[in-house]
Amino acid sequence: MIAKHDTPSDTAGADRVLVCVAWPYANGPFHVGHVSGVYLPADIFARFGRARGADLLMVSGSDCHGAPITIRAEREGITPLEVIARYHAAFLHTFDRLGIAFDLFTQTYTENHYAVTQDIFLRLLERGYLYRDTMTGSYSETQGRFLPDRYVEGACPVCGYTRARGDQCDNCGTLLDPEQLIAPHSVLDGGPITFRETEHVFLDLAKLEPALRAWLDGADRSYWRPNTVAFTRNWLKQGLHGRAITRDLDWGVPVPLDDPAFRDKRIYVWFDAVIGYLSASKEWARDCGNPDAWARWWSQQEAPAARSYYFLGKDNIPFHTIIWPAMLLGYGGLNLPYDVPAAEFMNLEGEQMSTSRNWAVWLPDIEERYQPDALRYYLTAVAPETRDSNWSWADFVTRVNSELVATWGNLVNRVLSFTYRNFDGRVPEPAPLDAVDRALLAERDAAFARVTDLLAAVHPRDALRETMGLAAAANRYLDEKAPWKALKTDRAAAATALWVTIQVINALKTLTYPFVPFSAERLHALLGFPEGDEETGAYSGRAAAGRIAAPATARWAIEEVPAGQALRQPTPLFDKLDPALVEEELERLRAARVE
Ligand code: MF3
Ligand code: ZN
Repeated sequence: MIAKHDTPSDTAGADRVLVCVAWPYANGPFHVGHVSGVYLPADIFARFGRARGADLLMVSGSDCHGAPITIRAEREGITPLEVIARYHAAFLHTFDRLGIAFDLFTQTYTENHYAVTQDIFLRLLERGYLYRDTMTGSYSETQGRFLPDRYVEGACPVCGYTRARGDQCDNCGTLLDPEQLIAPHSVLDGGPITFRETEHVFLDLAKLEPALRAWLDGADRSYWRPNTVAFTRNWLKQGLHGRAITRDLDWGVPVPLDDPAFRDKRIYVWFDAVIGYLSASKEWARDCGNPDAWARWWSQQEAPAARSYYFLGKDNIPFHTIIWPAMLLGYGGLNLPYDVPAAEFMNLEGEQMSTSRNWAVWLPDIEERYQPDALRYYLTAVAPETRDSNWSWADFVTRVNSELVATWGNLVNRVLSFTYRNFDGRVPEPAPLDAVDRALLAERDAAFARVTDLLAAVHPRDALRETMGLAAAANRYLDEKAPWKALKTDRAAAATALWVTIQVINALKTLTYPFVPFSAERLHALLGFPEGDEETGAYSGRAAAGRIAAPATARWAIEEVPAGQALRQPTPLFDKLDPALVEEELERLRAARVE
């Protein structure tokens, strides 16, 4: 199925794109910030890539280890596996509803992932990038056991934020050790934390630092988002030190050392989670019956020009621009990240979202009540791409109604309905074009090129704005040409205006496809093209045919709708939203809020 390339060159694999999406902890459902910042932009980028014919693979899965899972299990008195099963299913349901189509969305709790993680561990050990040392662990005197970093809270030594966790400060993003916290205490019972000696395995980041710097400085990174660069540079300033990659825990990947001292320890969740990108690629390859196919994207030998994109939230940046690249360099032979488009945070009604206070819009609560394309539209329009953004219900209704429905949906509906009724259900034959017609078609071509560049550079929000700009231009053109008036006096002029607009609508069908794929598919059919096959397969987390294929709708090119083509009976693409729902939704939010 997949041919091996015999003579790899610098450009081998230039059309190969690996879309890696941060692995969500399976300890709660998605809120709109996760989807808007990470999962949806990844899906938009992947749809665009497939439409352009890239050889693309998109993978992720549930992050099953770590304190976020065990804390929830303990709180509910259930097992980690029960927690994971519940939220993994919720993730898949959201993906299916919203059309977020992974080639594979798996879990870190699989035999394959354990094996790949242990393989990387052992290879790094063999190559001298791991060492054993003792460190002081956070010990709860009241519970008589070591506690994970996340169970420890205190003040951040860098910014003073009082609720910094033992692994990271959520306020300034600094990665921390619990010992650095001021006045550390247990999140379980508020009791004091003392520090005791315990033996662990460390990743020798100091040894990997020269290679890491050479990689970072060895290429132009100006295409990285400023935030990604700033976080990374800032982190490097402090110099790299060894980081413990094992923990005193019983939940996680076992440490592959034949030593009783490590029997009750596990690999640290962040060490195994980032390996998920590779293990998922391998799982996908094996699933397809071609176990070596993962190398198409990962092998420096076979595909040095393959590009991997990592979509994540800004709190995950250092794990993807420093630790994971360092691990890959230590392992050897694998491609490093090409781009790490990291999202900022999304606020809710002007206030910071908060899981503990339940100040969030959760996907399972809204995904059945709104059209997926309406959600996708708004989530893209207000994506926290380069700065923190805001979800507002009033804004949601306004933008869906005035942009998606009025500017785009109505353009389609009035042109197709009018044509259908007055031209025998067919695309009319145009007369020779005038300057106004040609200007709109030129604008279409220019917009197509700009949207292409913006999507390729992972700026979906700007790409959507540009797309809607073309729809607005088509509306202005129609107002000027007024074919409904011309029909009686100059039928040929009316026919031409409709033909031109239909051509622009067809280009907009392609341009809107990555953002609002459901309506783009329907529009494709309304324009009289053969109905495409349903794609996705996201519901099971596995692409049905091994890989998600781009539907015909999505071929990334400006194509002509031939005169004479029979249209299908038009129906509106989108539902208009009732403004009354703003109050309803706000009330729902307030009622669910915990203080
Ligand atoms: N589970 C982590 C979080 O939700 C993200 C892990 S991303 C990975 O913050 F790269 F480590 F997988
Ligand atoms: Zn801080």
